[in-house]
Amino acid sequence: MTFVEDTSIGAIEVDSDFAGALFDGLSAPEKSIPSRFLYDAAGSTLFEKITELPEYYPARIETEILRKYASDIALDTPPGAVLIEFGSGSSLKTELLLAKMRDLYAYVPIDISDAALRGARARIEERFLDLRVLPLRGDFAQPIPMLPEIADRPRLGLFPGSTIGNLENAASIKLLANMARMLGANGRLVIGADLKKDEHRLIAAYDDAAGVTAAFNLNLLKRANRELGADFDVSQFDHLAEYDGGCDRIEIYLVSQAEQTVEVLGRSFHFDAGERVHTEHSHKYDIEGFQALAARAGWRPVQVWTDQDRLFSVHVLETV
Ligand code: SAH
Ligand code: AVI
Repeated sequence: MTFVEDTSIGAIEVDSDFAGALFDGLSAPEKSIPSRFLYDAAGSTLFEKITELPEYYPARIETEILRKYASDIALDTPPGAVLIEFGSGSSLKTELLLAKMRDLYAYVPIDISDAALRGARARIEERFLDLRVLPLRGDFAQPIPMLPEIADRPRLGLFPGSTIGNLENAASIKLLANMARMLGANGRLVIGADLKKDEHRLIAAYDDAAGVTAAFNLNLLKRANRELGADFDVSQFDHLAEYDGGCDRIEIYLVSQAEQTVEVLGRSFHFDAGERVHTEHSHKYDIEGFQALAARAGWRPVQVWTDQDRLFSVHVLETV
């Protein structure tokens, strides 16, 4: 574990040991790389391109829902409150809420991607001149320090994108419970959850025709080449997205096209032809199932909005 040192951006503990994670993940009988490493500067840029794809409905639909109900969310936010966003990325959706929340004390974006955080902060500060922006870089799954400046203020949490779905159920309950503690008594959380749907639509969203999601996934190997001097031949790996109906999740893999050996920092890793490296899960929910999951972490449902095709849901939760 290391602390990120930056005087202008606050730090949360972050397991930034890419080499260690890669060694562990590629040495396991079923190879994997943790999904949080998808988001270096190149990965964050590719993710933003994903959000613009016609097939990637979650970003488009959640934006529509937030645009429609931003005033309702703002109405329930006390003056002088702090908006804390988990996995804030570009903070583009956040602007819809900030535009309606003119009495906020501060906005605290939390993200593992330094590049995303810096870009978002610059844009938000330019657009909302009176708003304090207090970014925190690090892993939201680690204990998040309470900034003294916001400790006595009402706090509203925002966790859009269905990023909760990238965690396994036990980890999402733990994270939701941490959020409940951090947001405090009468704390509220606005959270996006992608809904179960037709498998073809899901696969199209995670294996788009333009190959942007493939590039996002393969960037993990390019990142290993850039940062660790690994010698992955990226053209020898394919992107694969599958739907597991039993677990209600999209599963993303990198698949070795041929038998090959790759060197990472002096260590060799062997890949069989067709061997998979798991890189991400993206869980899909139904509304009641998601509310039940949140209840296990101390949240009760207050409101839920969906689009007319019930593709995506945005929940307002309150601490019990
Ligand atoms: N909220 C934005 C971005 C979603 S993409 C939206 O809805 O469009 C997921 C974001 O979560 C990325 O910006 C990524 O860098 C961040 N992220 C992923 N895992 C994280 C972790 N463990 N800790 C903190 N941020 C994380
Ligand atoms: C950030 N997260 C919710 C995205 C998702 O849909 O699971 C990440 C992503 N992976 C591939 N496409 C998008």
